[in-house]
Formats: sequence, C-alpha cells, structure tokens
Amino acid sequence: MGEGGRVSDWTSREYVVIKAKENGVHVIGLTRGDVTRFHHTEKLDKNEVMIAQFTEHTSAIKVRGRAVIYTAVGTIHTDRDD
Ligand code: TRP
Repeated sequence: MGEGGRVSDWTSREYVVIKAKENGVHVIGLTRGDVTRFHHTEKLDKNEVMIAQFTEHTSAIKVRGRAVIYTAVGTIHTDRDD
C-alpha cells in the first residue's frame, strides 16, 4: 500500500458502489489527464450493482439515472434534493 491509501500511483484503495434503482442507469467513466472524455459507459438494470475504483485511467465517474451511490465521503441518492 502506497502513500495516501493508494494501491498504485492513481488507483485509490476505496471503492465506489453504485446501485441502480431503475433500468437503464448509466455509469460513465471519465479519463484522467489533460483531455476529459468518456471512456466507458456501463448500463445497469434495476438492482444491479457496480463496484468501481478511481484508477490511472479514470478520474471521475458520472451517474445518470436513479441510483444510490455509496462512497467514502457519503451516500448519495441521485433522485433526492439534499
Ligand atoms: N478500465 C477502466 C479503468 O481501469 C475501468 C474502470 C475503473 C471504470 N473504474 C471505472 C469504468 C469507473 C467506468 C467507471 O479505469
């Protein structure tokens, strides 16, 4: 385990868990580096779960649709206003 709880230069130890609450939720990975673009889109159906990390290739994750996202900084329901 490296400094800052990372398993390598860019891959964090933590996982992000996304649980779809409807069919057709999209989990989109955005590239790390100078150019920010989508590099992968994963489609989840209701109750499907994706467990993901931030890596040397992925610096941000966008979730489209009704889902619950569990992260080290908290839990987010995409359909709630809080
Ligand atoms: N090949 C991608 C990577 O190593 C896989 C991936 C990791 C991913 N985390 C993600 C794809 C989050 C979409 C969203 O970075």
